[in-house]
Amino acid sequence: MKKVIVTGGNGFIGSNLIIFLLKKKYFVINIDHNKYSKNSYLLKDINKKRYKFFRLDINNKKILTIFKKYKPDAIFNLAAETHVDRSIDRPKDFISSNILGTFNILEQIRIYKKRYKRDIKLIHVSTDEVYGDLKKNERSDEGSQYRPSSPYAASKAGADHLVKSYSRTFGIKSVISNCCNNYGPGQYPEKLIPTLIFNILKNLPLPIYGKGLNLREWIHVEDHCEGLFLIYKKGRNGESYNIGTNNNIKNLNLTKLLIKIVKKKKISIGKKVKIRFVKDRPGHDLKYSLNSFKIKKKLKWKPKKTFNKGLEDTVDWYLNNTKFFNYFSKKIFFKRLGLKL
Ligand SMILES: NC(=O)c1ccc[n+]([C@@H]2O[C@H](COP(=O)([O-])OP(=O)(O)OC[C@H]3O[C@@H](n4cnc5c(N)ncnc54)[C@H](O)[C@@H]3O)[C@@H](O)[C@H]2O)c1
Repeated sequence: MKKVIVTGGNGFIGSNLIIFLLKKKYFVINIDHNKYSKNSYLLKDINKKRYKFFRLDINNKKILTIFKKYKPDAIFNLAAETHVDRSIDRPKDFISSNILGTFNILEQIRIYKKRYKRDIKLIHVSTDEVYGDLKKNERSDEGSQYRPSSPYAASKAGADHLVKSYSRTFGIKSVISNCCNNYGPGQYPEKLIPTLIFNILKNLPLPIYGKGLNLREWIHVEDHCEGLFLIYKKGRNGESYNIGTNNNIKNLNLTKLLIKIVKKKKISIGKKVKIRFVKDRPGHDLKYSLNSFKIKKKLKWKPKKTFNKGLEDTVDWYLNNTKFFNYFSKKIFFKRLGLKL
């Protein structure tokens, strides 16, 4: 039975990926430091026979002991600080988890390879935000220049460069994915889509940064997991793969679409549910958009969920799992972050 490690496995994408890998009959080792953004809601009912959890920071050298004991075939690195607003308030946390944490993983793989003559393939999960703000007709491909705008994007960019350097210099087997915005079950409620769904259900205004003109590309988390799995199996060492859908939509239109979907479910919408424009995020990028031709052509990946179906399924999931929101401190639903300058 193949064993793989998922770091950040108690986060949104990590927990979806663990469920995906367990279905594929892998033995999965989850490493997560379980700080504020952990939420193992999706993992509470999994069968633990082929699953092991370590509460550990990815900066910890004990990762080598886990390599030695379990001899994993691969490590999917998803552990990261991920909220752009928080990266404006506390950039150091982002340098620590996203850059130094990735550096430690690379170092432990290098030591393990040298000492025990074994390889571990690193699937390093990155983002479209490394490419920075795009002009009207632009899309980023894997050769586009990195121009990160936020401390979050810069920390992800730094980690990507380290991964590439360890591949070339030390022959570490690694691939990088640069994916667009994810949505789906179990997303931490400070992110856009769960915030909007929560506020619609609780009869609260819908806060939209600036004028809501920021354009993002969206993928259902299950399609992202399929892409990561293919990159693990067939991706060429030392290379990057964009994972995108061409589902680009402005935040304002996304909000209107969500309201429409909830209405379709015959849920009455309270009077206070109105779009409220709030102060914009400093340095807010207007547009991210990916060219994902490479993964489609070389690895034969394509997203399975259409945007409308994916969003409907997501709304259904939150409606059927309203207790998910009780897992988090209510402060995070209302506290505005990222305005400290
Ligand atoms: N959500 C998106 O739209 C998106 C898009 C592209 C790429 N990504 C990338 O995917 C990965 C996962 O994102 P997510 O949305 O699931 O984030 P998330 O915030 O929901 O989960 C991150 C997880 O990592 C853990 N973690 C953070 N720092 C750690 C450390 N130092 N040691 C151990 N565990 C640590 C947290 O406890 C949390 O469980 C991130 O690397 C992110 O940059 C996310």
